[in-house]
Amino acid sequence: MKPGPIGVFDSGYGGLTVLKEMAAVLPQFDYLYLGDNARAPYGTKTYDTVYEYTLQCVKWFFNQGCSLVILACNTASAKALRTIQQNDLPLIDKNKRVLGVIRPTSEIIGHYSRTKHVGVLGTTGTVQSGSYVIEISKFFPDVKVTQQACPEWVSLVEENKYNTPEADVYVKKHIDNILSEDSSIDTLLLACTHYPLLMDKIRQYTPESTNIISQGKIVAESLKEYLERHPLMDDACSKTGQKNFFTTGNTKDFNSHATIFFGSEIRSEKLVL
Ligand code: DGL
Repeated sequence: MKPGPIGVFDSGYGGLTVLKEMAAVLPQFDYLYLGDNARAPYGTKTYDTVYEYTLQCVKWFFNQGCSLVILACNTASAKALRTIQQNDLPLIDKNKRVLGVIRPTSEIIGHYSRTKHVGVLGTTGTVQSGSYVIEISKFFPDVKVTQQACPEWVSLVEENKYNTPEADVYVKKHIDNILSEDSSIDTLLLACTHYPLLMDKIRQYTPESTNIISQGKIVAESLKEYLERHPLMDDACSKTGQKNFFTTGNTKDFNSHATIFFGSEIRSEKLVL
């Protein structure tokens, strides 16, 4: 089988915060990014819809020659990953793999907390799935997890409103809510790949002593370990250091916006699904 790029998927721009860290940790690999901007946000959609859209995108990656696809989207990881892994992959191709972001994050998050009280900030879909509560309890049974859905935060980011009075209102609101629900929280997990873009505001309304953890580096380090443990998969991933970007939305918008997420210039191509 000819080696192909590592596929990186998100409902929109958020996965770029993960890809950026992957490319820093594993610069030799090729990456193919797809943002399903035309159908974002996923955070408010049903299980069936998130599953249907995610599977469609995963199949596209496989058709592009990817053997490994990372769902760099918590909502897709929460609502579609397990079904794809258990039901779809055995039928599509037993040698291909799809991995998510919830497990690698859950494996490590407890180590950041001294009080053993962790707050999880995510989309409505991720919070409703309870995935973080379940996964974190497997690795850190003594950690108390409090969740908070922040439905406005993705739009603040998608609409470029990081530094508006609206951002102050909604960031403060959700930070205050979660910290008043459990005042012993010393670690807040940004369990949505869009949220790191609001980091300055989140920091502003969070006590200085509280850890604020974004997932990019965690997922990148976990991918590195995964490839070391799976040499056949490593061989199936091409290594010429290239990155290609596709969006189902408007390429001009994607390019200008994605550059902020990624930190360097991006030229995307349009994908019609
Ligand atoms: N970036 C996605 C996540 O990590 C969610 C954004 C959306 O609602 O589409 O959950």
